[in-house]
Amino acid sequence: MEDHGIKLPKEFYLGTASAAYQIEGATTQDERGPSIWDQYVKVPGAIENGDTGDIACDHYNRWREDLEIMKHLGLNAYRFSISWSRVIPKGRGKLNKKGLDFYSQLVDVLLEYKITPFVTLNHFDLPQKLQEEGGGWLRRGVHNDFNEYTDIVTQELGDRVKHWTTFNEPWELAWQGYHTGEDAPGLKLGVDAALEASHNVYLSHGHVVQTIRDNVPDAEVGIVIHLNHVEPATKNPKDIAAAKRWEGCQNRWYLDPIYQGQYPEDMMKLYGPLLPEIQPGDMETINQPLDYLGLNMYRRSVISGGTDLAPVNIKRVNPPGEYSDMGWEIYPKGLYDILKWTDSNYPTKKIYVTENGVACNDPITPDGRCHDTRRVTYLREHIKQALKAREEGVPVHGYFAWSTMDNFEWAYGYNMRFGVIHIDFKTQKRTIKNSAYLLQNIAKTQ
Ligand code: FCB
Repeated sequence: MEDHGIKLPKEFYLGTASAAYQIEGATTQDERGPSIWDQYVKVPGAIENGDTGDIACDHYNRWREDLEIMKHLGLNAYRFSISWSRVIPKGRGKLNKKGLDFYSQLVDVLLEYKITPFVTLNHFDLPQKLQEEGGGWLRRGVHNDFNEYTDIVTQELGDRVKHWTTFNEPWELAWQGYHTGEDAPGLKLGVDAALEASHNVYLSHGHVVQTIRDNVPDAEVGIVIHLNHVEPATKNPKDIAAAKRWEGCQNRWYLDPIYQGQYPEDMMKLYGPLLPEIQPGDMETINQPLDYLGLNMYRRSVISGGTDLAPVNIKRVNPPGEYSDMGWEIYPKGLYDILKWTDSNYPTKKIYVTENGVACNDPITPDGRCHDTRRVTYLREHIKQALKAREEGVPVHGYFAWSTMDNFEWAYGYNMRFGVIHIDFKTQKRTIKNSAYLLQNIAKTQ
């Protein structure tokens, strides 16, 4: 492999990331309870090709092989999520010991392989039973259930897992689940519902931070937010204002409460009657000191005034350049920009880049390999930008490529391949892609 020109700092996590529903499969095995995704994938037209996560990468049964590959690659960290309904099939009450044992064994083998586990408690998944009871994240009291689940999981794994993330991408969870309806539970209820779900997610986040700390005194606790660097499409004041609104909707709405204990004023004004009820004490509950911020980044946002997501009223502009299979612009400097922006507006102890990657569908060639050249370039250039930000003082302490393996890419089904490990979904054969060898080579520089 050609020289990548990267020298990894001594204390730095380099790994890959995944999410339970996207890889595990085995949705009815060992008494796992149904989740909102099991339900949503049955809706005709919801998922491309009618794909489901029923089998996915069958990671629930093949996890040992997957961990062997990570070990072989020399990665020192792995970010994965826990399926709530695998552990507590109905969301609250009866525990499923077999489900918990699965994660416990996974953690044991990770540690044996010197791979640090980063556990996400919620990655877009919710027991279906809790959706049926009061509308999932629309029910304020859902934080009690999330707390019960967190308590059980952190008591069981906390002696070995020290890196805990409460939620993955609260904007996507709330807006795509309850307003645009693109993700489970697939509801198109309006911006007010998205804001309500979002507030309840944040209350749940705030409530469990202390639970994690009580059960795991030496834990690092954080949240993962999808952050894009926002740029106005032109210098026109209308575009500048639209860019500010988008930054408010996606970035500041999620960072301000965590770091400043309040929602951004300009956005409060804009949402006006769409806002959920914010009870006394809510913002204090949400505003818990955290040990790290997890930052997911795929592209930048170039924004002009428009009519999308009213009242945010924006339009995404696609500047000339290179685009992935998802139609997302490939713009490595965007990672540097968002890291710098985040650090200067929300100084924090540690940032981990918890997701960054690219969808491109490269076949296995007759030599038995997967030459995913565009992904090799993408990851290499983004890692360089992350390290450049670090050299300039941004506390970047880790980088996780999305994703460990090709998987069930939500509404896109198996059409979109983000993995550094190729999966043949007919045979479940794993093939290490060139991008994974790139990570292996970078890991060796430590
Ligand atoms: C992020 C999700 C992750 C994956 C990537 C492509 O929004 O966290 O599960 O779908 O996008």
